Amino acid sequence: MASFIISIAALKRNTAILRETKEAAGCKLVLALKGFACWKAFPYIKNDLDGCCASGSWEARLAHQHFGNHVVTYSPAYNEDDITELLEFTTHLDFNSLGQWLRFRKTIMAHPRFKSGELQCGLRINPEHSTGSTPLYDPCVPGSRLGITADQLEGADLTGLSGLHFHTLCEQGAEDLESTLAAVDEKFGHLLRSPQFTYLNMGGGHWITKPDYDRDRLIRLVREAQEKYDLEVWLEPGEAVAIHTGVLRCEVVDVFESMGHRHAILDISATGHLPDVLEMPYRPDVFLAERSADSNPPESSKQPAVTLDGERYYKASDSSSPSTYQLGCPTCLAGDVFGDYSFPRELKPGDTLIFDDMAHYTMVKTTTFNGVKHPSIVLQHPNGRLETVREFGFEDFRDRLS
Ligand SMILES: Cc1ncc(COP(=O)(O)O)c(C=O)c1O
Repeated sequence: MASFIISIAALKRNTAILRETKEAAGCKLVLALKGFACWKAFPYIKNDLDGCCASGSWEARLAHQHFGNHVVTYSPAYNEDDITELLEFTTHLDFNSLGQWLRFRKTIMAHPRFKSGELQCGLRINPEHSTGSTPLYDPCVPGSRLGITADQLEGADLTGLSGLHFHTLCEQGAEDLESTLAAVDEKFGHLLRSPQFTYLNMGGGHWITKPDYDRDRLIRLVREAQEKYDLEVWLEPGEAVAIHTGVLRCEVVDVFESMGHRHAILDISATGHLPDVLEMPYRPDVFLAERSADSNPPESSKQPAVTLDGERYYKASDSSSPSTYQLGCPTCLAGDVFGDYSFPRELKPGDTLIFDDMAHYTMVKTTTFNGVKHPSIVLQHPNGRLETVREFGFEDFRDRLS
């Protein structure tokens, strides 16, 4: 049975870096649940972070019930039920349009939590400064629906608001944050300098836990912004919390040749379980796992994010060889494939393959398309013990559909 395995030690390694960074910067840092929401892992990481960033009322409820501390909510649009629920526990509520804010402003400002200062409200802004390379992930593309442009705020009644929020980065370094902050200052600096605005949320997309990320620059930028505008800065990374903390283990179910091409069919689906592989698209690292008779097998040159005792790993390569296979999925979608990978030996049914770095933006997006079995969710404790925290049965598939 396929499973996502998340290493608690790796998660804690990341959150320790995030904690050190936010403490040095003097800002707040929350986990973006849209990227990683495995709540059974929250007890191990929540003390390092200041809470969660939620994309709507359900994520906010999860954050409130299982993480605690701050709940920073932003959605492109809320309805009345969302607002009624969120008013009870969210600590920040950011809006994507002036129309939404004006629609709910009276209700919000009359609420005891707003009056007491437990709840603050802000606007998501669009600095119209693109720094990314993938349009699908760029909220600053021309005509974007995400964030309010500076011209829309001219002469607007901003009574009741105390924050601005931008999210424009995706897997990016601090140099892109620096150029974004210059654009924010040029277009929105007059608001940030006014005493009415007490927080600036710099969104996610900061690759803070990558070894080559320039953390000193981030710390300097956050400190400068806090001093210049006299406000509190918030960061809300998702990927940086869960990067290199998990794998998806799966099994080879069939191997055959067709029209000169070798195929290996797996028990997972790209569109069902790793949709970013097709959406972004990107090519994950894949390993062949072998049980080793040797109790301490030699380490492979590169290891997946989660390793198990007594296993040896062989990273698949891109170069064509007699044991190159197109890794495909057991669904009807012709394009539901991971691409061609070469292994050190021929594959056979029952082999275990490991898709590396599969904790973020995977489990939060999974489906049971075609009825492909949903991988189990497993936590690996620092002593190596595996704890299966969720298995999915036929009833889960059936009950979601009616
Ligand atoms: C508003 C907002 N905040 C935070 C994030 C988290 O981004 P990342 O996981 O890239 O750090 C996202 C991701 O799309 C987002 O849209």
